[in-house]
Amino acid sequence: MAKITIDGKVCECDEGEYILQVARRCGVFIPALCYLSGGTPTLACRLCMVEADGKRVYSCNAKAKDGMVVYSRSPEIDAEREAITQVYCINHPMACGVCDQSGECELQNLAHLMRTN
Ligand code: FES
Repeated sequence: MAKITIDGKVCECDEGEYILQVARRCGVFIPALCYLSGGTPTLACRLCMVEADGKRVYSCNAKAKDGMVVYSRSPEIDAEREAITQVYCINHPMACGVCDQSGECELQNLAHLMRTN
């Protein structure tokens, strides 16, 4: 059993487990659109970026190491996530009021989150 710290929260994990999986189990929210639990990371959305031991990594593809210190947010990470989200929104119809997925849409949730942070 290993321990990593995510945003100040100590989380137990298996060495080699993906940081995103650990965060989800520990109740730490990291935005992620393309990672499916149990699947192979595709690194398509790039929203799950975090800083781990001082390096920028994608949490869906970066493995936890005992003693690792992870920050899911910083002004730079927030700005980059916001820019990525804006690109997704530009390329996506935003007629949420008439969309069947409204209220259950990860992109919609993300866009709201970016506006409120
Ligand atoms: S969840 Fe999409 S790149 Fe990590």
